[in-house]
Amino acid sequence: MATAIAHPNIALIKYWGKRDRVLNLPSTSSISLTLDTFETKTSVQLGSGQDLLVVNGRALMGKEAERVFNHLDLVVPGRQKAQVVSESNFPMAAGLASSSSAFAALTVAAIAEAGLEKTPEEMSILARQGSGSACRSLWGGWVEWHRGMEEDGTDSHGKHLAPRDHWDVRMVVAVVAGGKKKISSREGMLRTMQTSPMYAAWVNSYERDMRQARQAILEQDLEALGVAMERSTLKMHSTMMTSEPPIRYWRGASVALMDAIENLRAKGIGAWWTMDAGPNVKVLCEAEDAERVAAALGAFVQQVSVLAPGGPPRLV
Ligand code: DP6
Repeated sequence: MATAIAHPNIALIKYWGKRDRVLNLPSTSSISLTLDTFETKTSVQLGSGQDLLVVNGRALMGKEAERVFNHLDLVVPGRQKAQVVSESNFPMAAGLASSSSAFAALTVAAIAEAGLEKTPEEMSILARQGSGSACRSLWGGWVEWHRGMEEDGTDSHGKHLAPRDHWDVRMVVAVVAGGKKKISSREGMLRTMQTSPMYAAWVNSYERDMRQARQAILEQDLEALGVAMERSTLKMHSTMMTSEPPIRYWRGASVALMDAIENLRAKGIGAWWTMDAGPNVKVLCEAEDAERVAAALGAFVQQVSVLAPGGPPRLV
C-alpha cells in the first residue's frame, strides 16, 4: 500500500473553461498558490478483490467512484483491482479546491503503489486528467499552469514559479457555506462555454492577467498581484452569471466579506479577495496582517482559517 498527502491550491489567475473536455485541456493558463494545513491523505492498495473507494470514512459508489477508478486506469494501465481510502481535513466540494488535492494525492499514491517512475511534470499531466486544478498541486508554493498548444496535452501541465518560502503571505479562508455545491465546476464550465456571451472575452483577455501576476509574484508586489487576482475572479464570475440559466455562487455573506476587505484596504491594509466555484471568500495578504484580516472576516462568518503557502505532495 502507498499513501500520499497533497495540499489544495487556490487559483490567483483562474482556470475556467476547456479546449478539450476529455483530456481536461484548459482554454486559459492559470496561476495558483498551494496551501499548507489543509490536506488530503490518500492510500492506494492494488490487488484487492474488488475496486473499493472510502472517502472520509464512507464507502462511495456511483459517479464519484467511477471517476476515481477511471483515473487509476489511466495512471496505472492494466492495473489490478484497488482499494482507495482518502481523507481530507477541510470541506469538500465547496469551492475550496478539494479536487485539486484529491487528484494530486491519488495520482502520487497510485504511481508509488505501482512502482512507476515519473517526473513531477508527468505526474502533473496525469493529475490534470483527473481534475484540471490538480495539476498545480504537484508543487508547493507558486505554480503556473500553461494552457499548452498540443492537441494531446503533453505541454499542458504545472510548472514551478517560486518556492513556498519565496514570500511570506497568507490566504485567509472564510467559509460562508461548507456543504456540497449545487453546480460542480465541471458542469458550470461547460454551461459557461456553451451559453455565456462573455466567454470569448474571458479567453481573449487572460494573458495580461498572467503577465501581471507572474511579475508581481517574482517582485513580491502584493498590490499588483491582488489587483490581477480580483480582476481574474470578477471576469470568471461574470461569465458564470451571464450563462443560461445563470450560475451565481455568491451569497449575501460573500459580498459582505468583499466589502469588509475593501474597507480594510481603505485603512491601508493590503488585502485582496478571490472566490472560486462556491460562496467562500479567500483573502490574500502579508503574514503580518493576517490576524487583522481574519478578525474582520470573523465578524461575518463562523469559520475562518489562516493558511500559509504549503509544500508539494509527499509519500508517508
Ligand atoms: C473555479 O479543476 O475542479 O476552482 O478540471 O473539471 O475537474 P475540472 O475542474 P476543477 O475547476 C477549478 C475551477 C476553479 C478555478 C481554478 O482552480 O483555477
